[in-house]
Amino acid sequence: MKKITIAIDGFSSTGKSTIAKQLAKHLGYVYVDTGAMYRAVAYFAMQNGYIDKEFFDKDTLIASLPYIKLHFVFNAELGFGEMYLNDVNVEKEIRTIEVSGFVSKVAEVSEVRAKLVEQQQQMGKDKGIVMDGRDIGTVVFPDAELKIFMTASAATRAQRRYDELKAKGDSVSYDEVLKNVEERDYIDTHRDDSPLVKADGAYEIDNSDLTREEQFETVLGLVKELD
Ligand code: C5P
Repeated sequence: MKKITIAIDGFSSTGKSTIAKQLAKHLGYVYVDTGAMYRAVAYFAMQNGYIDKEFFDKDTLIASLPYIKLHFVFNAELGFGEMYLNDVNVEKEIRTIEVSGFVSKVAEVSEVRAKLVEQQQQMGKDKGIVMDGRDIGTVVFPDAELKIFMTASAATRAQRRYDELKAKGDSVSYDEVLKNVEERDYIDTHRDDSPLVKADGAYEIDNSDLTREEQFETVLGLVKELD
């Protein structure tokens, strides 16, 4: 089968990365988690004191963009690429609730988006890629052969994210996670630049009541239909 581009967009914690990783593994494609890239920039801003609960020095972050180097290094054991920020593995650091609290504000900045979108388009230029995010089917790869838009109820999503954070030993409450998920949904869908919307031609999958297997079979069915 000819290599294609698969764009998976949707709200926070809809299980986009789970399905994207499964698909990439099954098809022998590269998986790119674009949320990790926005998270790494937010982490950089946090580390350098450009963003806090009360303020956000956007201009200094924009001026620093040329000094932010992002790349993925494939981890064979995990089966996907881990996020590196200026040559340091930040996979763990970028998944905290603190970074989740800042990332959507950082992702609103057009200069940040322009830099990351360019890099994402470069990574996918040879196709054979599964990329997940918020603007993949609308902005990064509007011509992707397969576009998926994932949804699930906010409560289902918050519970998933809460279970994930707890399993990693983070001391968060369910309410804190739900609030974060709802805040990010709001910012992501209301921003001026590349708001989260269902792309033209995207298949919508509500996975609130689907098992992982059912979800995978549904998406794989869509891939096979293209053949
Ligand atoms: O996918 P994840 O939940 O890790 O993404 C973190 C945040 O990064 C999102 O809430 C959104 O603000 C931003 N993001 C984005 N565009 C993408 C991927 C993520 O704006 N393509």
